[in-house]
Amino acid sequence: MSEQKAPADSCVLVTGGAGFIGSHTVVELLERGYRVVVVDDLSNASEKVLDRIGKITGEKAAARLSFYQADVSDRAALEAVFAANDIDYVIHFAGFKAVGESVLKPVEYYSNNLNTTLTLVDVMRAHGCRSIIFSSSATVYGDPDALPLTEESPKKSATNPYGWTKWMIEQILSDLHVANPAWNVVLLRYFNPIGAHPSGLMGEDPKGIPNNLLPYVAQVAVGKRDTVRVFGDDYDTPDGTGVRDYIHVMDLASGHVAALAWMAGRTGVEVFNLGTGRGTSVLEIIKAFSKACGRDLPYVIEPRRAGDVTANYADCSKAKREMGWEATYDIDDMCRDGWNWQSMNPNGYED
Ligand code: WQD
Repeated sequence: MSEQKAPADSCVLVTGGAGFIGSHTVVELLERGYRVVVVDDLSNASEKVLDRIGKITGEKAAARLSFYQADVSDRAALEAVFAANDIDYVIHFAGFKAVGESVLKPVEYYSNNLNTTLTLVDVMRAHGCRSIIFSSSATVYGDPDALPLTEESPKKSATNPYGWTKWMIEQILSDLHVANPAWNVVLLRYFNPIGAHPSGLMGEDPKGIPNNLLPYVAQVAVGKRDTVRVFGDDYDTPDGTGVRDYIHVMDLASGHVAALAWMAGRTGVEVFNLGTGRGTSVLEIIKAFSKACGRDLPYVIEPRRAGDVTANYADCSKAKREMGWEATYDIDDMCRDGWNWQSMNPNGYED
């Protein structure tokens, strides 16, 4: 069990730490004094992120960061990481995450996302490390019966293999605790992570055609794509377009640090929603991003996208009550920082 140690005496393994949410969380951890070990196979991330992390945190903090390029399902590589580092906590981001792609590639999604997790927890327990934060998702709530969503809202059938892997990994970690009550599990259910580090040095950099709304809008704003496609305007929402709870990636990063502090010295399984509690429509996002980039972005209404829910947004009062955490950035902040990143890095981390 991870007893209450000061950040300077604590080592955190971050799987997928070169990714969008992972890299922003690594910056937050380093700035709070933690020692950080990143394992990432770079299949959906750029090694350049590591330089950007150093530029943001400064050399002294970056000296507490170790990086291993490896697949989390590579047991030998993971054993070597645990043998070389006295790991107190694990934050598990590594996994494939494209909803549409998961429908076309279920074997790859179940194999990758589940095998990485099963190998990780097996190596963790072999080294006496049983404290894990899992990067889960509001997608486990499926199509909500009632809003806002609380942690007690029912987990419903997922609408795609990506969502099912999040659903199943929550179950795996919960069953681990049933088998051995010494496990210390926190499940963080993110809503829609967007935005970028205010420096503009790090941000979301999806490969190929972006699945998600914000990177697509940002690429229209920077001139890489012509028009924003709005998937349906006949939903039962104020302006007919889909509503989501968008949360700044910096708020998400601070939520992970708050969870680390909260879970120290505990055992059990705890779920927290990480959102803002506010719903924003697609058209409202386009308007806010147009304001951020200084021009009206063109859009076209297209048919609904299969699998989309009408609306979801969070009740985050539990995270506030238990961890003292709440989101602080608003939609204009998210679009301002997202545009700053995209305009400074039109091709993401590629030169
Ligand atoms: C948001 C809204 C679309 C693209 C998924 C996962 C979630 C998380 C984020 C990984 C919807 C509309 C989208 C576009 C559009 N996964 N849209 N045009 O589907 O809510 O959540 O991604 O981190 O776990 O479930 O996010 O950004 O794809 O869609 O109109 O080009 O934007 O219909 O209403 P989603 P999204």
